[in-house]
Amino acid sequence: MLQFASDTVDIASKPERYRELGLQLRGLFEGEHDRIANAANMSALLFMTLPELNWAGFYFLDTPGRELVVGPFQGKPACVRIAVGRGVCGTAVAEERSILVRDVHAFPGHIACDAASNSELVIPLMVAGKVIGVLDLDSPAIGRFDEEDQTGLERLCSIFVDSLVA
Ligand code: SME
Repeated sequence: MLQFASDTVDIASKPERYRELGLQLRGLFEGEHDRIANAANMSALLFMTLPELNWAGFYFLDTPGRELVVGPFQGKPACVRIAVGRGVCGTAVAEERSILVRDVHAFPGHIACDAASNSELVIPLMVAGKVIGVLDLDSPAIGRFDEEDQTGLERLCSIFVDSLVA
């Protein structure tokens, strides 16, 4: 398995590494459409392979579509419910776009689940034009995520969404 750990020599570019992760995800999702199962394996894969993360996981919208509820994740226990429009996750849902936060302390309304988090990337999960939840990644490093991470992770999220369709 391709390692992202910073103590390994890795000459692959970031887009190449995300492409490789996409292949691994497709392998993990092969023949499986269950949302919880695939979200659990995806959060484990991301947490294990991407460097400098302290939280990687999912929030899914509740049935009225007013709150996000925590789903499968790796990291410290987290806030269970986040209202749409609140925090980085709720803002990504309300605005239906990815939100890359270089310094969470400069993001008004950021919800600190783990005091160690300093930067964050949230990607909305879109099914048939509607948001069903988000992928949330947190890092203790300021500026951990860039546009290449955003593009790569948006692609991985579309592989996740595609896996849900039988
Ligand atoms: N920081 C997020 C809350 C979720 S935790 O980071 C796991 C937010 O502001 O929405």
